[in-house]
Amino acid sequence: MTAQNFIPKPYTKTIENGSVTWQAPSNIALVKYWGKKENQIPANPSISFTLSGCNTKTTLTYSKKDTNNTFSFDVYLSGEKQDSFKPKIETFFKRIEIYMPFLKDFHFKIETENTFPHSSGIASSASGMSALALCLMDLERLLSDAEISNNYFGQKASFLARLGSGSACRSIEGSLVAWGEHHDISESSNLFGVKYPFEVHDNFKDYQDTILLVDKGEKQVSSSVGHGLMHNHPFAEQRFKQAHQNLSALITIFKTGNLEAFIKIVESEALTLHAMMMTSMPYFILMKPNTLEIINKIWTYRSSTGSKLCFTLDAGANVHLLYPVNEKQEVLEFINNELVVYCQNGHYICDQIGLGANKID
Ligand code: PMV
Repeated sequence: MTAQNFIPKPYTKTIENGSVTWQAPSNIALVKYWGKKENQIPANPSISFTLSGCNTKTTLTYSKKDTNNTFSFDVYLSGEKQDSFKPKIETFFKRIEIYMPFLKDFHFKIETENTFPHSSGIASSASGMSALALCLMDLERLLSDAEISNNYFGQKASFLARLGSGSACRSIEGSLVAWGEHHDISESSNLFGVKYPFEVHDNFKDYQDTILLVDKGEKQVSSSVGHGLMHNHPFAEQRFKQAHQNLSALITIFKTGNLEAFIKIVESEALTLHAMMMTSMPYFILMKPNTLEIINKIWTYRSSTGSKLCFTLDAGANVHLLYPVNEKQEVLEFINNELVVYCQNGHYICDQIGLGANKID
């Protein structure tokens, strides 16, 4: 499969106007994507849990225009016009235009809303870009005479979402999604995310993710800048190798349900991501003092209770607490008694592993 496969045959149908709505989830990486080559090709493979509660719902309303020499669209977030989102979407449209040659034929109204609080420090780019990519795929389906299989639909949606924001390609379909070529997963691709194809132990069923909002501010460093810092990074090659090894190890862990081994990989991945940022030039510390307080509390809690609670981090200060569903009550008590003080305004979000995006009729 190459990118060329996603260039469609000339469209045969015409459509004047209409609208479509998709809801797409956020995801949390276990093996982190950090570093990319040209065209949003990941420098290493990654894998994530799809979340069920943190979603973006996007309605794309399209109306045919008379001229087709520019992109024309308006963006609304929770009913309010958001011109500040336009440059990112314009860049996205430019990148995908060759794969979606109808984009300049329509005026689009893009209405989007997140189920998680805006400015919670939770990135909406993964869920936002995947929801938009799915809406566009729906429109392509209407314009094409040829049958578009569900498999192609999902793959191309993921392929497009990746061009909007890399990790967004893991927010289309499946509870566990791998992205980036890996020798143990023959169907894996650098171009799109794939549903994890192997056995997953019941220990991971309904796995919980509680997101502690330590810092709700704007990201200190954008992820594009972060990925860029992996170029000429002194530890880059070793890091990319490690991601391959950690993904291989996770395949066994998912099969056996070995949660001790899972914790080691997941926490090490989170700390390695941050270590890459601390050792790049320029260097950044993305954690806040409260991030570290939480990590230390988790380690103490785990050693005193035998719990299988662990943490992971995005490229920011918030902490994702991952734990099996059978520990839900105890962990929530622990959060309320000991961790909530480290969250900004005491805020946290309870989520769990989900299935992927869906169309809203
Ligand atoms: O999709 P981007 O370019 O915002 O990068 C996301 C990178 C991490 O969230 C830090 C890791 C990952 O794999 O999701």
